[in-house]
Amino acid sequence: MTSATPAAPGTKLPILMPPHPMLRGRTRRVGPADMEQVRALLPDMFATMYAAPGIGLAAPQVGVGLRFAVIDLMPNETPAPVVLINPEVIRVSEDWAVREEGCLSLPGQYADVTRPARVAVRHQDANGATHEIEAEGLLAACLQHEIDHLDGVLFVDHLSALKRNMLLRKLAKERRQMAAG
Ligand code: NI
Repeated sequence: MTSATPAAPGTKLPILMPPHPMLRGRTRRVGPADMEQVRALLPDMFATMYAAPGIGLAAPQVGVGLRFAVIDLMPNETPAPVVLINPEVIRVSEDWAVREEGCLSLPGQYADVTRPARVAVRHQDANGATHEIEAEGLLAACLQHEIDHLDGVLFVDHLSALKRNMLLRKLAKERRQMAAG
């Protein structure tokens, strides 16, 4: 997979981890006056996501309190970048799906998360055009995960308190060990 990671022309940004408050705040809707800043950040967001490597990255994870995210599921190991500006879930299926999730802000931590199996998401692209995506499978989970980030929600919030605290403590311990060398 790493060999297929495209070299994006942006700068790699530091990815925030808990308990950073940016990860827990609500983001502000991207307005016309914000589009220039958002467009300037997109190459860095993609570069950061591809380098990690990951399939999604939301603005708060790199310290930006605006409502946008990038994803790329790399179908057939081919880049397929998607820019999600002001994304919102407009429909969800009644049936649920369980999928293992991870997060670039919680490196090395994975857990099964239950979410609606299919969603419809409305969003704008980098040119301000509005799109609607009907998604299932990995894309449905990824869209919901990234939109959660824009509302200060992490995938561990969908788990029991016991499981959530276990993962967060494990992450903190691993980070302390890393810092200690
Ligand atoms: Ni995430």
